[in-house]
Amino acid sequence: MTSQLLAARAAYVLRGNDLGTMTSAAPRLYPHMWSWDAAFVAVGLARLSVPRAILELDTLLGAQWGNGMIPHIVFNPDSTGYFPGPERWGCHLGVPGAPPYPATSGICQPPVHAIAMQRVVEASRRQGRSDRQAAGEFVDRAWRPLVAWHRWLATARDPQGRGRVVLHHGWESGMDNSPRWDGPYSRVVVGADLPPYQRRDTLVVTDASMRPSDREYDRYLWLIEEMRRVGYDDALVHERVSFAVEDVLVSALLAVACDVLADLGEERGQPAADVAELRAWARRCRAGVVESVDPVTGLARDRDVRTGEWLSTETVAGFAPLLCGGLPRARESALLEAFEGERWCGHPQLAAAVPPSTSPASGAFRPREYWRGPQWPVIAWLFHWSFARRGWAERAAVLREEGLRLVGAGDFAEYYDPLNGEPLGSMQQSWTAAAVLDWLC
Ligand code: SER
Repeated sequence: MTSQLLAARAAYVLRGNDLGTMTSAAPRLYPHMWSWDAAFVAVGLARLSVPRAILELDTLLGAQWGNGMIPHIVFNPDSTGYFPGPERWGCHLGVPGAPPYPATSGICQPPVHAIAMQRVVEASRRQGRSDRQAAGEFVDRAWRPLVAWHRWLATARDPQGRGRVVLHHGWESGMDNSPRWDGPYSRVVVGADLPPYQRRDTLVVTDASMRPSDREYDRYLWLIEEMRRVGYDDALVHERVSFAVEDVLVSALLAVACDVLADLGEERGQPAADVAELRAWARRCRAGVVESVDPVTGLARDRDVRTGEWLSTETVAGFAPLLCGGLPRARESALLEAFEGERWCGHPQLAAAVPPSTSPASGAFRPREYWRGPQWPVIAWLFHWSFARRGWAERAAVLREEGLRLVGAGDFAEYYDPLNGEPLGSMQQSWTAAAVLDWLC
């Protein structure tokens, strides 16, 4: 397929998933707005219409909680086709700080929103004056909400100031069932009083081998129950919820996002005190990520807060320092070599040389099972964007080329089997289309 046709199809996917003021993450499996999906969607939309991209982010920020959290789902009131829906979360029913409307979930997702804002501003620079003005005004309007969001992550979710953001649900990492979380999840004891439920995801993706297992779902639902029972109170959640991990990828993204936001704020003349705070959080998270690096493998590690142990499963999160920087030069070069080496992008059996979610050389690798092995185009986009930002133009170009090879058939799948390139999960996934648009336009 020509690039022009692929881009046109990607635009068609985003238009098809457009619900007016939000874009569904995927038409059947995810009929609502997801936080980090929305950010990537805005990156793609910016190539089609800067005002529409801004509207996407405005909708998301409109659902921000009083404590600064951007919730991981903003529910589309016209759809009931997803579980767990608003009733299961119960956040709109009087949880302090949660908006009564639109209903939201009670957890967060990775902080990639400032990156999206920067891409929107950049896209506006190639457009006329009215788009440039709209993007500038958007930065001014979104400034306080985004600083509050970053502050919440840097404080409520890092109460010890370790420079690593603590998550209380695998969904918060965006990488739901990654083997990174197998250890911490194995210690989650599901209460006998878990209210009954029926999954809907497996009605849409009928090949169960592509989705998390029922056992995993029980734990997902139990964690929601634990949070709901303490009223989603930050301190109580931190103290009581059975799952608590320091996520090294989210921490690296927070470091980058703080720097990107600080840059935009400086350009727009936002308060120097906010900018200084953002820079300080960026420094602290960068140091936290560097501190997590395994001296033997050179990969960054998550940490289980409940047991204090480092988690060294070989997943793509190990490359977090490549996103945020901070490693001494020799260690960074070694990590780049590993990224391109035969346990990762250079693995001889890969159909496209972009990072799989888990190393194919690891015993935990499952090529079709959601975050346990498949390649996710949006992750390739994220590394592509970071590499370009860090001045590694050639490496960024390779990721773009290989990412486009992965999605070339135009299904815009959620994820792909690294060994044969088969599209998996849901099709017409918005963020896959968005990544393609950014690569091609
Ligand atoms: N990704 C999750 C799901 O599969 C929710 O964040 O429903």
